[in-house]
Amino acid sequence: MKFLLIGKNGQLGHELNIELGKKYKVSAFSSKELNIEDKGKISQFVKRIKPDVVINASAFHVVRDCEEFPDKAFIINSIAIKNLAQICQDNGSRLIHYSTDYVFDGRKGEPYLEDDAANPLQLYGISKLAGEYCAKTYCSKSLIIRTAYLYGGLSGSRSKGGNFVLTILKQAKENDELEVASDQIVSPTYAKDLAIASLRLILKKPNSGIYHLVNEGYCSLAEFSMEIIRASNKNTKVIPIRRSEGDLRRPMFSALKNTSAAKLGVTLPSWKDALKRYLFTLS
Ligand SMILES: NC(=O)c1ccc[n+]([C@@H]2O[C@H](COP(=O)([O-])OP(=O)(O)OC[C@H]3O[C@@H](n4cnc5c(N)ncnc54)[C@H](OP(=O)(O)O)[C@@H]3O)[C@@H](O)[C@H]2O)c1
Repeated sequence: MKFLLIGKNGQLGHELNIELGKKYKVSAFSSKELNIEDKGKISQFVKRIKPDVVINASAFHVVRDCEEFPDKAFIINSIAIKNLAQICQDNGSRLIHYSTDYVFDGRKGEPYLEDDAANPLQLYGISKLAGEYCAKTYCSKSLIIRTAYLYGGLSGSRSKGGNFVLTILKQAKENDELEVASDQIVSPTYAKDLAIASLRLILKKPNSGIYHLVNEGYCSLAEFSMEIIRASNKNTKVIPIRRSEGDLRRPMFSALKNTSAAKLGVTLPSWKDALKRYLFTLS
């Protein structure tokens, strides 16, 4: 099986490149080598490489930047996906596209299933939901994988300046106490586990559609922080607080439940187990 990977230097892209490369031929590209906005070049590369599977691990996904630059959010997260999906369709490639827990409004109060109604609260989620629509409408063999609160690599996401785990570790070095929201609930997910599960899912040749792939379980950001500090043997105290009212554009409860991939036998380890393994790679 041949793969073409877009966004090879991201948290997820990096892990996908490693996992796929163990057994398969992967043509992997950074944003400089293959800009997802460049429809002509993508088409040229897909025609030349003839991949069985095209994986898009790129995104414009800093929430506040999407509010400030909505045109860029829609170009990268939606319009580029329409073009990519059409190119995959025309060349007989399967498209794997990643989406987010932020397509939900968080009002359900329990983990979201794959077919729950989306209702994004901010431009990032709206542009990603439009991207989901484009992937599924324009490529009949597309898989949309929603994930959440990703962390991975030694420096995390370049555009985000790291990830939640690295931020807490840095803050714990500089402070005796940290105030963290106890009322924002998420499914923290290790990019390595997501890459492994994505490949397992692809190999099952599942029906096209939406799949939720996250580490098992969920927690508040305060619980997540406490576990980061406990597992890395730091003494900083986490003080649970209520999230600031000003941050209403982020869903309060965006945990995801994997039911569709689980039916095919594809599940991820628990979030605590994943965190322990990630922290080990940093030590
Ligand atoms: N991070 C999270 O917490 C989170 C949560 C839910 C869902 N997701 C989704 O998971 C996926 C992977 O996220 P991640 O955390 O691995 O992202 P990341 O580390 O920020 O990496 C994003 C990648 O996209 C590339 N990219 C940006 N603009 C591009 C363009 N125009 N053309 C080609 N490549 C471009 C970047 O390349 P350069 O750095 O070279 O510019 C970077 O390698 C995304 O679809 C994201 O929406 C992430």
